[in-house]
Amino acid sequence: MSGTKLYEGKAKILFTTDDPHILLSRYKDDATAFNALKKGTIANKGEMNCAIASHIFQYLETQGIATHFIKQVSPNEMQVAAVQILPIEVVVRNIAAGSICKRLGLAQGQPLKQPLVEFFYKNDDLGDPLITDAHVSMLDLATPEQVTQLKQLALDINHHLQTFFERCNLILVDFKVEIGSDANGHLLLADEISPDTCRLWDKAIADPTARILDKDRFRQDLGNVAEAYQEVMKRVLATIS
Ligand code: TYD
Repeated sequence: MSGTKLYEGKAKILFTTDDPHILLSRYKDDATAFNALKKGTIANKGEMNCAIASHIFQYLETQGIATHFIKQVSPNEMQVAAVQILPIEVVVRNIAAGSICKRLGLAQGQPLKQPLVEFFYKNDDLGDPLITDAHVSMLDLATPEQVTQLKQLALDINHHLQTFFERCNLILVDFKVEIGSDANGHLLLADEISPDTCRLWDKAIADPTARILDKDRFRQDLGNVAEAYQEVMKRVLATIS
């Protein structure tokens, strides 16, 4: 049973529940890219991403990562802990792709020496700019202790996701996470982990376009978008913790 709508984002809607500590997150089929300049829908994406994210949150919990996930309650809805989302998008990269290639002139597909953590300021009006620790501090987006914790948490999540996706025969190129602070000030992994928020390449395919199984198929109009999500879902759900 959902209560009142608290917030509607690009890919999900959050509702209150009878319990003030619990929210309902409903995943939508809507897809956006380039700060919502490109809009569309991906057939059945809400259900696919909800299933993928539920499975991955549960996997990460078994690996000791605290998440906001409580339980999946319908094909496209999950109960989550109510948290205060930090206004920072935390990106972890293992291989160069997307914005870092444009920004630093790296070749698409170039492996990075070690995982790289980047912060982006969550602000649609500004187009989510890349920011440094000094900006985080200046803008009071998080405390210095939280910044240290965020970086370690992001690297820990990357480690566990790499292991998990390896078992799916997928390469985890990069991903974005959002972190929330609960009523006790503990940091929890929030939002979602799905082909909307990760770059995933099929390990068995060398062709640089054919191997893409994530939202880049939508961003770049590569076709077979829903089929790619379906393939990721199939592999993720078949991978037992
Ligand atoms: P990035 O290369 O910075 O941006 P773009 O997708 O515009 O090329 O993205 C790195 C990874 O983080 C990629 O898997 C997409 C994901 N991401 C989001 O899901 N949302 C965001 O707002 C950002 C900045 C990244």
